[in-house]
Amino acid sequence: MLRRKSITDTESLSLEDIELILSNADSFLEVSRRDVKKVPTLRGKTIVNLFFEPSTRTRTSFEIAAKRLSADLINFSSSGSSIKKGESIIDTLKTMLSMKVDLVVIRHSDSGVIKLIDRFINVPVINAGDGKHQHPTQALLDLYTIRKKFGKFEGLKVAIIGDFINSRVARSNVNLFEKMGMEVTIVSPTMLLPEDFSKMNVRHRIDDVIEESDIIYILRMQFERQNRRFYPSIMEYNRFLSLDSRRLRKMKPGSIIMHPGPVNRGIEITDEVMDATGNFGGKIIINEQVTYGVAVRMALLYLILG
Ligand code: CP
Repeated sequence: MLRRKSITDTESLSLEDIELILSNADSFLEVSRRDVKKVPTLRGKTIVNLFFEPSTRTRTSFEIAAKRLSADLINFSSSGSSIKKGESIIDTLKTMLSMKVDLVVIRHSDSGVIKLIDRFINVPVINAGDGKHQHPTQALLDLYTIRKKFGKFEGLKVAIIGDFINSRVARSNVNLFEKMGMEVTIVSPTMLLPEDFSKMNVRHRIDDVIEESDIIYILRMQFERQNRRFYPSIMEYNRFLSLDSRRLRKMKPGSIIMHPGPVNRGIEITDEVMDATGNFGGKIIINEQVTYGVAVRMALLYLILG
């Protein structure tokens, strides 16, 4: 069903597409747990990782996913390329495609650029994050993580907390979470809340949602995209929005804490919470999100190229 399809955003994914990706991720999670973590599924296929912005999780996850499927993967970094000599993205891509590449994974700082690229080239494109617009594979791996934890989506209460104005993860996740029947509450100060979210179910303090939520989803403060000061001070942010150990202890049994990473320790989550152990520490499933990310990306590559 996803054959040759590009993944540019979450809006264009149907319920059938999502179910297909999540159910295939189960099989690939099993591959990742084997001693020999490799299947020949995409032998002979060539994938390019084209990252114009820094990344740890997404780039590595796609690389591991491609290699576990036996595809050849080329990591392209703009800093060491002819982009530095003025070559355009489209011309760079056309150069790559002349070498008979089968799929490109792209991260770029310009919102909407991946959709534009998708119109220009004739191989599938996967959006690995474009500016403040979308990060669809993050949303899919988050959905998969939630299903592994709760076995369902319908009726789960999820509070998404933090910097919405600069967040591509928020835009992808809200769309997908609502599509799956989850009850989404937006928690953000007005200065970090853009128009498109302000008409939703909005709260301004983490304390308003901490006791009732099944999922506390913390967004990263996107300092690199803030061209002006969006919040008076870190102390003020900590007071109303950060997850600290007092708030952690108020969370209901069975509830979980998610974050797309990388975490700004001491800003959206305190060190104490990040390093918590025992029952409360077990609520933090940030590393499981990363593990499941590989399985979800293997599923996507397989469904598009297999
Ligand atoms: N979640 C995420 O996109 O992390 P990276 O920036 O490390 O890829």
